[in-house]
Amino acid sequence: MELTVKKAHNLKGTIQVPGDKSISHRSIMFGALAESVTHVTGFLAADDCISTMHCFEALGVEIERLSETELKVHGVGLKGLTEPSVILDTGNSGTTTRILTGILAGQNVFAVMTGDASIRKRPMARVVEPLRLMGAQIWGRGGGTYVPLAINGAALKGITYDLPVASAQIKTCLLMAGLLAEGETILTEPSKSRDHTERMLELFGARLSIDGNRYTITGGQQLKAAQVDVPGDISSAAFFMVAALIAGDSSVIIENVGVNPTRTGVLDALDAMGAGISLSDVRDISNEPRATLGITGKTLYATTIQGDLIPRLIDEIPILAVAATQAHGTTTIRDASELRVKESDRIAALTQELLKMGADIEELEDGMIISGPTPLKGARVNSHGDHRIAMSLAVAGLVADGETNVEDSEAIAISYPEFERTLAALIDR
Ligand code: S3P
Repeated sequence: MELTVKKAHNLKGTIQVPGDKSISHRSIMFGALAESVTHVTGFLAADDCISTMHCFEALGVEIERLSETELKVHGVGLKGLTEPSVILDTGNSGTTTRILTGILAGQNVFAVMTGDASIRKRPMARVVEPLRLMGAQIWGRGGGTYVPLAINGAALKGITYDLPVASAQIKTCLLMAGLLAEGETILTEPSKSRDHTERMLELFGARLSIDGNRYTITGGQQLKAAQVDVPGDISSAAFFMVAALIAGDSSVIIENVGVNPTRTGVLDALDAMGAGISLSDVRDISNEPRATLGITGKTLYATTIQGDLIPRLIDEIPILAVAATQAHGTTTIRDASELRVKESDRIAALTQELLKMGADIEELEDGMIISGPTPLKGARVNSHGDHRIAMSLAVAGLVADGETNVEDSEAIAISYPEFERTLAALIDR
């Protein structure tokens, strides 16, 4: 598929973005392992979360779809998953693959898991190695570095482990394995990654002790079913924040956006660039804060994005790079080598594609240097099969002269199937 975008001024309107991807995945995982029925509203019905849903159905969990966004997950209890008769397909989802590895390691099942071409290249040793230290029996390509992985559920033992990278997927995988293990699991991460799992553990009645970036969980705690209302995904909202900031005389309101502090690095970075995004109607539902965001077109200035800020905006770096092409000065992004092992090598993909549009962008091993403002020109660009690259290029197309054709745009359905429709609605006002 190909998405065609033309230059646009004046984006106007009030929108909502679909449910948070991280929280939607977790609502099924926690709901599945809880006792009795978890009710989920605001669920993200996009390919990644559907992959999670299908995996858990194959593991014997009944999931009722009351509507696109509303589910009832019939929990089977902490160790109640049943052996799947099929190979589990995690599609494009790193979150599903990594967290499910931890969950399966402590169940009484044998399971084999694989995914699409992108997932088959993504590093899994980061979860397989610590799980083996807990006693997990896991086999996989490259000694357990890549899927397909075969997991034979075993009796796990708690460990003390320092995560080599700040990663919510690794942290969650090991916290879930810790919940299934005997004794205490103590994890430390180098800087704080998103804390949706910690918040959901609390919502489902489990105890977790948190001391800075150090987490202690005791195995064997039963989860109690909960009501999960998923807020809008700030990572999806970010595309429209940047669109409204850079496309002429725009004014956009985005309602019900998740503003968990471990996810709002994009607001901090845009604020440093002069965006002045307003937050109103801030409230907490299902242990997650949300707010209404107000964005108007602004002159942007360059900034530096590095260090502890990186995990708080890791998924927004592609769209921030687009913002940087329109900002005055030189923006530097560093300490972001994790981008090379996301759905695509996002540093290489962004540099290659934004250069085609005339951007002044230089690739670093762990980031990018982008100077602006640069008038972009419409071009034929490619998503590299990566949803966030596709949407970032589409937003760049809004300020480019002529027409921008984003090839392989079907990747957008991984996280935001209605992206094109919402964008069209803002342009047509
Ligand atoms: C996610 C964690 C992040 C993020 C990904 C979703 C999660 O990855 O990039 O899109 O839901 O836990 P890391 O685990 O590498 O931080």
